[in-house]
Amino acid sequence: MGITGNAVLDCIEHRSSTRQFDLTVEITAEQREAVLHAASRAPSAGAMMMYSIIDIREQATRDRLAVLCDNQPMISKAPWVLVFVVDYCKWIDLFEHVGCLTEEFATESGCAARPHPGLGDFGIAAQDAVIAAQNAAIAAEAVGLGTCYIGDIIENAEEVRDLLDLPEHTVPLSMLILGTPKKERPATPHPTVNLVMEERYRRADAPTMDAQVAEMDAMFRPHATEPGARVRDIYTRKHTSDFMAEMSRSMDLWLRNWLGKGW
Ligand SMILES: Cc1cc2nc3c(=O)[nH]c(=O)nc-3n(C[C@H](O)[C@H](O)[C@H](O)COP(=O)(O)O)c2cc1C
Repeated sequence: MGITGNAVLDCIEHRSSTRQFDLTVEITAEQREAVLHAASRAPSAGAMMMYSIIDIREQATRDRLAVLCDNQPMISKAPWVLVFVVDYCKWIDLFEHVGCLTEEFATESGCAARPHPGLGDFGIAAQDAVIAAQNAAIAAEAVGLGTCYIGDIIENAEEVRDLLDLPEHTVPLSMLILGTPKKERPATPHPTVNLVMEERYRRADAPTMDAQVAEMDAMFRPHATEPGARVRDIYTRKHTSDFMAEMSRSMDLWLRNWLGKGW
């Protein structure tokens, strides 16, 4: 789209993931405040704010996260880390605190006692957490900070739970590393073939998939000699990877934790 002159659209257009940080430039209190405030301004289902943000600055914690998140040393080198925790623990605690979980309240209100969230609650709370994370990412960009999401926060559930003291009914779904970018970052190309569908879902036919493959090869594998290099690359490096197997094992545990089914 290029430069539009609209500050928000231009910020979105030019953002790209930052994996190298200039440690000679301190993150200011104003920058931190702008990022955290923008996160809190994100839409939230019923304004329930079903997430918590763990603000991590201690080097030892970042070093440990670097190992636990699929050995990515850039996490150690990022001056600031935010973990967006999908959080219903705070609501269960509040329900308990004001007496909603007592038999008297059940009789008086006609609502059966419900001491654990379900998958429906997870569906909306997860949206809350991720939308807040993206508000933070865009605000960071707007105040001169770079960010990178770290999906691997879902791995090694037992160790991450212990490291961050995460209780029942929480899932650490999103993580951002933040800091002053070390260098100019050209925007990463993003494929758009077969992305927006009119009115109904339309499963791709062969010509559409050929167009999709061609677009992705041109963007990510321009020197490939055969079509489909990018798709094969994703299959071997991501879809069948050890880290994805570990993420799936951990996500199973996190969902049990969410539902209050123990570890
Ligand atoms: C959910 C999610 C998880 C990600 N996890 C990682 C990660 O663990 N390590 C990493 O280097 N980049 C990670 N990224 C960054 C993506 O690789 C990046 O967004 C993508 O290549 C597009 O590039 P761009 O952000 O520069 O537009 C993640 C992004 C998202 C949205």
